[in-house]
Amino acid sequence: MRKKIVAGNWKMNKTLDEGLALASEVIAMVKAEVKNNAQAVLCTPFISLYSVGKLAEGSPVAVGAQNCYDKESGAYTGEISVSMLKSIGTKYVILGHSERREYFAETNALLAAKVTAVLKAGLTPIFCCGETLAQREKGIHIDFVNSQLTESLFLLSEEDFKKVVIAYEPIWAIGTGVTASKEQAQEMHEKIRTHLASKYGKAVAEETSILYGGSCKPDNAQELFACKDIDGGLIGGASLKARDFVDILKSF
Ligand code: 13P
Repeated sequence: MRKKIVAGNWKMNKTLDEGLALASEVIAMVKAEVKNNAQAVLCTPFISLYSVGKLAEGSPVAVGAQNCYDKESGAYTGEISVSMLKSIGTKYVILGHSERREYFAETNALLAAKVTAVLKAGLTPIFCCGETLAQREKGIHIDFVNSQLTESLFLLSEEDFKKVVIAYEPIWAIGTGVTASKEQAQEMHEKIRTHLASKYGKAVAEETSILYGGSCKPDNAQELFACKDIDGGLIGGASLKARDFVDILKSF
């Protein structure tokens, strides 16, 4: 059975106090209301990871980072290593979000190194992929997403690959209010799974969790999560409201 996951990507939002308030609300609601076996993950800014992690200890909610560096330690001013994240109880790391690819020039090659570093430390990478609107309109979206997967993940051993979570986030749906239709999302998720099967075999591909991200909200989560190849969501805007995030979590 594939793991169901709903991860909130807070992006660059919330001070420490605001983050703690949001996380306590989410944790309380998850404890009281969530009866399914979906894993909730809060991917907070670095400054809140430790405190939110402490708050979430012993609860069903896990904590994740939104990025990390691939090097272990040293003269890399401003960067955070995976062992630092591990030392404060972080379990997940979002890698390759389109905002990091666009604003911080992260390449598939750099992301391959980051994925390897995260896996080596025993954390779970949530690897993001997704096309622009122009690529979709040209009909090259499937090839583009497949190349992101090939270049950043296909160097992994089967053993390591099995620990990776994938998030398909069409760039044109991120923060725009335009969600991919369930048909568009399901089609891409199926293509991704087929591509994974071509490298790691059908059994491994069938066990890989593939999340959808891009304007996922309480009113569309249910139809998206009902699709055969969609195993949850990576949630931006709606993860900043506890009620919305938990309603999405309950949408399976
Ligand atoms: P929105 O849910 O705000 O569209 O953001 C999606 C996203 O980028 C999650 O990583």
